Amino acid sequence: MTSPTRLAILASGSGTNLENIAKAIDEGAVPAKIEIAISDNEEACALERARRRGIPTKVVRPADFPSRDAYDHEIASILQDAKIELVVLAGYMRLVGKELVEAFYGRMMNIHPALLPAFPGTHAVKDAFEYGVKVTGVTVHFVDEGEDTGPIILQEAVRVEEDDDEDSLYARIHQAEYRIYPEAIRLFCEGKTRLEGRKVRII
Ligand code: GAR
Repeated sequence: MTSPTRLAILASGSGTNLENIAKAIDEGAVPAKIEIAISDNEEACALERARRRGIPTKVVRPADFPSRDAYDHEIASILQDAKIELVVLAGYMRLVGKELVEAFYGRMMNIHPALLPAFPGTHAVKDAFEYGVKVTGVTVHFVDEGEDTGPIILQEAVRVEEDDDEDSLYARIHQAEYRIYPEAIRLFCEGKTRLEGRKVRII
């Protein structure tokens, strides 16, 4: 039997995706181990969720670094020291810089609450709802240097209902996130994703 894939999760906020991924791993659905949870925000609930599950945590505060490059260099060092094989961004609200992208290209995933390339950025659900789309959804993609522009691994569509408000729509988007993020991680860990240019083949 091969050993579980060494994961790091980076999260800035509530951490419900972190919790859901940890649960999927504990249930044996994903052959991985979360070696560390890192946050740029010392008040992130994600840290508390990780601690409660016995996952080592680390806060790296942007204010302690002179530049984004210096900050990313520190994150890259922590990830490399921990021999991380897959970096999972789960509500990590910072753009990832060149050094970190290059160090983990094809081994760093993000989840985004819209069907990319529509509605990138930090207010995707609000933007899609206010635009009046009838279908939105969730995207898991590898991270490149752009904002939400990397090669797409999995997507799930979510229909906008007539009586939806932004909150009810986001609640269903979260449910879709909880289905496809563990699945994308499982596919990676089992060697079933192959990155070919902009395309990710599921084999
Ligand atoms: C998720 O909905 C994720 O898609 C979004 O942040 C939320 C984090 O929720 N990410 C982005 O908008 C990235 N552009 P969580 O902290 O409860 O997992």
